[in-house]
Amino acid sequence: MKLYQITITFPGADPYSAGLLREVLTGMGVSLGNIVETMDIRSSGITVYFRLKQARDRIRKRILSLGLLNARVRTSGVDEKNWVKKCALYNKPFTLNGDIRVIPAKPGARFKAACPGERTIRLFINNVFGSGRHFTTCRLALFLKTKKGDYASVMDVGSGTGLLCLVAGIYGAREVWAIDIDKEAVKTALANFRLNKRSGFSSIAGDFYKFKKKKKFDMVIANLFTRDLVALRDKLIGHVNGGKYLAVSGISRGNYKYFRENFDSPELKCLRVEKDKEWCAVLYRRKA
Ligand SMILES: C[S@@+](CC[C@H](N)C(=O)[O-])C[C@H]1O[C@@H](n2cnc3c(N)ncnc32)[C@H](O)[C@@H]1O
Repeated sequence: MKLYQITITFPGADPYSAGLLREVLTGMGVSLGNIVETMDIRSSGITVYFRLKQARDRIRKRILSLGLLNARVRTSGVDEKNWVKKCALYNKPFTLNGDIRVIPAKPGARFKAACPGERTIRLFINNVFGSGRHFTTCRLALFLKTKKGDYASVMDVGSGTGLLCLVAGIYGAREVWAIDIDKEAVKTALANFRLNKRSGFSSIAGDFYKFKKKKKFDMVIANLFTRDLVALRDKLIGHVNGGKYLAVSGISRGNYKYFRENFDSPELKCLRVEKDKEWCAVLYRRKA
């Protein structure tokens, strides 16, 4: 399998140009799951992946026609061998948080359904974000582990494959809502809930910016772009029960200062920060 990519970079840490371009790209029909946003102090960028060269070239033409100031547009193909290696790695079972076994499944694969109480998750990935191998997902899984037993209800904003909902289920959550703007993600999360016998978990299609339900949860998790986390801060906090938790991830290292300056609130106490070379995740408690 060969993939084709376009990378658009802007000078400086500029959460807005890249975020805005992402909106434009989704308006052109590019799925959010195929867009990766990166940012550090020197530059901000967006990479879009395509299965077909023609589709990549068509979108490239439309991007160039926007006449973006200061933007650098580059195209390349993803090395087939590396991609195959990556796929092989992604298809291997692995252990998450030292106590949950994740078994990736190919579309259409049949499994013996999981038994409740079992610490194994069978997972369809279907090109949706949330295989469990990315730092941003792992750290939210770690926060769920740290607070296990202290939450009964969880909302996952931008749920991808639904893996984190299943993790929350293993750690004791009984009521779980997964929300995602991407229809493929919603279908995949639903298939994963069925496969893991969590038929009571809800997988909801929708844009969280427009989400109207008022329900509160003991734990709200969100692995989103920094710009979205900041814009959605009050809405996210509004869904957390007093004294309970809000865990956010997807903050690039270059954005961390900007994130804390704009996300911290008198209503939140920061309990824990996790960082690697590229990403940060933060666990907050909403004040009672
Ligand atoms: C980085 S992935 C996180 C997936 C999963 N929660 C995890 O941590 O592995 C972000 C997900 O958020 C979804 N998303 C992005 N913007 C959204 C929005 N405004 N409302 C709902 N979902 C959104 C994307 O479709 C994508 O599946």
